[in-house]
This record gives sequence, structure tokens and C-alpha cells, in this order.
Amino acid sequence: MDRTCLITGVAGFIGSHTARLLLEKGYVIYGIDALLPYYDVAIKQHNIKDLSQHPNFHFYQENILSFQFEQLPVKLDYIIHLAASPGVRFSSQRTQEYIDNNITASIRILDYAKGQAFRKIILASTSSIYDDKGELPYSEHSNLDPKAVYGISKLCMERISNIYRQEHDLPIMTLRYFSVYGPGQRPDMGIHLFMDKTRKGETISIYGDGNQTRDFTYIEDVAQANWQALESETLQGIYNIASGRSITINSILDKIFRVVGNTTTIRYVPILKEESLHTLGNISKARKDLGYAPSTHLETGLRKQWEWMVDSEYKLG
Ligand SMILES: NC(=O)c1ccc[n+]([C@@H]2O[C@H](COP(=O)([O-])OP(=O)(O)OC[C@H]3O[C@@H](n4cnc5c(N)ncnc54)[C@H](O)[C@@H]3O)[C@@H](O)[C@H]2O)c1
Repeated sequence: MDRTCLITGVAGFIGSHTARLLLEKGYVIYGIDALLPYYDVAIKQHNIKDLSQHPNFHFYQENILSFQFEQLPVKLDYIIHLAASPGVRFSSQRTQEYIDNNITASIRILDYAKGQAFRKIILASTSSIYDDKGELPYSEHSNLDPKAVYGISKLCMERISNIYRQEHDLPIMTLRYFSVYGPGQRPDMGIHLFMDKTRKGETISIYGDGNQTRDFTYIEDVAQANWQALESETLQGIYNIASGRSITINSILDKIFRVVGNTTTIRYVPILKEESLHTLGNISKARKDLGYAPSTHLETGLRKQWEWMVDSEYKLG
């Protein structure tokens, strides 16, 4: 029997890569995405163009907040819930939107799941929920103290899902992703922005002195982790999905200049209080339990993202 999986946010960056991998692995995918205009909708349509040709891919362009779940087949095996308003930067000006898409929509997914025999429900959380004054690397037990509405909304989702897990016996696994990059990266994210501005010779604004650090995780490693999480069957709980290495923003800019073959001016502006100063994930739990083994070197991943950016500009016009 084919394994069936509902992926929410399937037209997004992580969702489309995950769907592609799971189709290759023989899953039947039911994908929901409202194609929200958080960034250019043409990118999302492009993300699912090849998927839509696949006989095992079924797409619903719908909002989870109003979705009639009876449209789905009666028995699905798995859920990967990725739909959300992502990113810390705008979240404090758009609180209600983050509450709707990150908390209320997640509750709708959990309400749909309860009373059904799902084999695994994966929820997407984030490194932004950790207390960045804490010790590095962050383990799953590190202190939590999100600074932005985005992180707060994800922490809320985690805590509510914990109650559902206990009260309704739902097999929930929460994956905390750390700054994902690679082909298809959202245009509001650092590496995408930096590459775009470097190519155009526009000034790059860096918050702070550029010595803040990030753990960047390559998209294929994340898609692999999502698959491994599904296959881990009885396991539940919280897992960091990171690369386990960090780099300063100044150093990643040097690498981007080399990949793009151009340089541009950098302007240092006051630090954003919503953004974490440092992120670095301890991934030993995911390594041990899931067999997660991120394998993509930063230089290789940056090159692949750059090739995609050049190619997709041509395709998106
Ligand atoms: N990209 C990262 O670095 C990163 C890091 C940590 C956590 N995450 C989490 O991973 C998930 C995927 O992130 P992404 O970068 O692929 O984002 P994305 O914006 O590319 O994808 C999310 C998709 O969800 C859809 N969506 C949002 N609200 C919806 C709703 N109410 N109904 C239906 N569809 C809805 C959007 O249209 C979008 O296509 C998110 O939950 C995000 O918070 C991402």
C-alpha cells in the first residue's frame, strides 16, 4: 500500500522540496497551500509546477483556516505541517496574521488529526524560540525565550500541541529548523537578499557589526530530515534540525561575493532587537534517533542556490 502524507505549506520553500523527495520515495502527497502573498506568488507557483505533473500529487489551493477537511481521503498516514507566516522581521507589525497562520491554523490541523489513526504528525518549529543569551549550541533542553512575535507564535504552537499529544494521544514530532538555505530560498531571507544585491551592485544593510553568527542548514538536508522523521515511526518529541556549525554574517558575505563573482558595499545599521544574535544547533539527538546526517558543505550549497537564482530569474521572467 502506498503511504499517504498531507503536507501543508506545500508550495513554499521547505514544503515543495519535501514533497519532491517524498514523491521520489513513493509517497502519495496531498498538499494544501493558500499561496499567500508574503512573497512573490509566482515563486510558489513555480515551486509546484513540476510536482503538479506527478500522478501522486494532489493539490488544494486553500487556506487552512477555512479548509473543509472532508475533501481529503478518509485515511491518511502522515501530516507534515509547514504552513505558517515565517520570519521574525515583520512579525511584530503583523501580530494577528502570525496568530492566525501559526497558532489557529495549527490548532485546526490538530483538531482534524485527533481521533484519527495518523502514524506521525510533524510540526515545523524554529531556532527563533531559543533564548539567545543562553549557552551555545542550543540543545532541545536549552532555555526558550523568543524575542519576536514569530518565535512566540511557534512556541505557543509547540505548547498547545503538547496538550493535544497528551490528551488525544497524537504521535507528534516537532522539528526546530535553523536558517534553511538553498534553491528556492524565500526572497526575504538573508542569503537570497545578499546574493540578489551583490549581483545588482546594490548596498547590503547588515544589522549590527556582522559578527553575529548563524547555523545555516541546506534545504536537501532538511527535506531528508522530514523524511527520516516520518520513517522513525514510534518516535515523538522535539528535534533540532541544523547543520551543527555556525558562521558570522561577515564571513558568509565573503563567500557569497566569491560565488556571485562580484562585490558590493556593506552598510552596518543598528541591530534589530527581534533577531537572535547567535544560533547554533546541537544535532546529536536527531543524529542518534533519526539517522540525520547533514552532508552539504556551505560552499556547495551556496553555489547551488546561486545557480537556482540565475536559472529561476530566467524562468520567472
Ligand atoms: N525557512 C527557514 O529557514 C525556516 C526556519 C525555521 C522554521 N521554518 C518553518 O518552516 C515552515 C516552512 O517555511 P518556509 O521557509 O518554507 O516558508 P514559506 O513561506 O516558503 O512556506 C510556507 C507556506 O505556507 C503557506 N501558508 C501560510 N499560511 C497558510 C494558511 N493559513 N493556509 C494555507 N497555506 C498557508 C504559504 O502560502 C507558504 O507557501 C514554516 O512553518 C516556518 O516557520 C522555516
